[in-house]
This record gives sequence, C-alpha cells and structure tokens, in this order.
Amino acid sequence: MPTINLENCIKCMLCVNDCPSDAIDIEQGTINDNCIHCGHCVAICPESTVFPDEDVIKKLNPNTVLPGDFQNLSARIRTCRSYMKKEVDEGMLYLLLENMKHYPSASNARPVEISIIKAKEEIQKLNDSTARNLINTIRIFTSPLLMPILQLLAPKLDLRRLNNYKKQFIARQVPGSSLVCHHAPVVLLFHARVTKYSMAAADANIWATYTSIYANTLGLGTCFNGFIVSAMSRSKAMRKEFRIPDGHQVYASLLVGHPKVKYINEAGRAKPKADLI
Ligand SMILES: Cc1cc2nc3c(=O)[nH]c(=O)nc-3n(C[C@H](O)[C@H](O)[C@H](O)COP(=O)(O)O)c2cc1C
Repeated sequence: MPTINLENCIKCMLCVNDCPSDAIDIEQGTINDNCIHCGHCVAICPESTVFPDEDVIKKLNPNTVLPGDFQNLSARIRTCRSYMKKEVDEGMLYLLLENMKHYPSASNARPVEISIIKAKEEIQKLNDSTARNLINTIRIFTSPLLMPILQLLAPKLDLRRLNNYKKQFIARQVPGSSLVCHHAPVVLLFHARVTKYSMAAADANIWATYTSIYANTLGLGTCFNGFIVSAMSRSKAMRKEFRIPDGHQVYASLLVGHPKVKYINEAGRAKPKADLI
C-alpha cells in the first residue's frame, strides 16, 4: 500500500481527486484496501509526500517525444522476420522486462508473466511443435470429409487458400527450417492465469506492443507471433513443454533479435474505416 507522510502534506487534494477507487482519507493520512495500487497518488503529489508500495519516488523527465517523432517511429517499426545470428544480451532483456512495470493492466491487476525462450534448441523445438500443430489443425479443417461441410456452413472460411497454405508450409518445412520463429534468438511468451473476469488477453497484447516499441528503440527487431499463441492455446503438451504454469494461457508472443534488414520507405497502407458518432 502507498503511504502518506502527513508532515509535508499541503492538502492540495490532487491525490484524493485522482484516486480511481476513492481509497484516500487525507485527514487521517490513510489509504484503505480499495486501493488498486495504480500509484496515481504517488505520481501526482507535488510535495513527494505519498510513497509507493515498492521503490522510492523518482521524478519523471518532461516528455521529449514529439508527435512527429512518434509518427516516424510507428512507420519505421515493421515486423522483422530476418535476424542476425547475434545473441540478445541479458542486459537488453533485463531492460525489456524492467520497463514492463510501466505498462497498463485492467484494474491494475498485472496478471501477465513472461517466459523468455533463449536456448537455440528450445526455440527450434517451439518452431517445430508450432508448425506441426498448425499443419495438423489445417489438415482437420481441409480433410475431404470436413471441407465440403465447412464450406457450406462457413463460406467465409477460405479453405482453399488454407489448403494451399498448408501444402506450401509442408513443402518448406525441412529439418532446421524456421518458418514460425524465423531463427529469432529470443522468443517472449506473455501468459497469465485464465479467469472468468480478467482482461489478461488484452493486458498481454498491450504489454507485447509496448515491448515491441521499446525493443525497436533499442535497435532490436520484433515479430508478433500468432501461430505460437494459437498452437499453445490448443496444445496442453506444448504448454507443459515450455513450462507455462497450469491454468495459464499464452496470450501474446513476440520474436526478438537484432534485425538483418532495414526498412527505409513508408508502406502506403489505408487508414482504418472510422465512424464519428
Ligand atoms: C497479433 C499478430 C499476430 C501475428 N502473427 C504473425 C505470425 O505468426 N507470423 C508472422 O510472420 N507474422 C505475424 N504477424 C505480423 C503481421 O503479419 C504483420 O504485422 C503484417 O504483415 C504487417 O507488417 P508490419 O508489421 O511490418 O507492418 C502478426 C501480427 C500481429 C499483430
């Protein structure tokens, strides 16, 4: 629980008014257990008199990222599927993990845990199990028995394309190939306990997105990996093999490494359809 030092408190009420759970009694200098540990009271206090649950008060630097900088950064960050053999050193991984304390989470529940896969043979295993799982799943959908029924019931499922994709994938899937992990030196898995009401999937994807942006500012390349997420959701054996705790689900996966390629031109892509109500 954050603590308030009433001695220096000027009763400006900024913390009380900003608290999302009405947990602060400023007369008593107490915070009750409605507190969701978001730290807004610490962040807003002009007298640095509200202390965080953990750590000390650190003053933030003024924001120096201009809108144009962010636009340029967003345009420059592209999915990386081509990595140098160079390892990502532990210092960089530490930075990526350390910064996660700043990322938002529904109700500030912070359920997301990270598995870092760095051993080359483990990444190859992850690649191969995911590829196998993907091929087997497409095989079921495109089996001569199920395909005509599915085509009738779900015409929007482009099964012909899926079937071609499977054939292409199988043809390229040779020992040592890396069609899923693209020979990335690190794979991050963002997982959390499955509960009825949590928003862990959203949390995990937000954390992975921030991580991707931060990694890019460190000169790393990243690739979101939906294949791994889908395979992990279907395969208990895979979750066990990669030590995902019982009852957890992998909600996001990010390949990370030093990029071999550089993108220098902006991709002309359409803006999303938007509705002003
Ligand atoms: C949720 C999500 C899952 C993705 N899964 C994969 C994947 O499994 N394999 C892959 O190569 N790329 C994957 N991508 C990358 C997209 O294919 C990529 O974003 C798209 O091609 C556009 O390229 P860009 O990211 O460079 O703008 C994924 C992207 C997102 C957002």
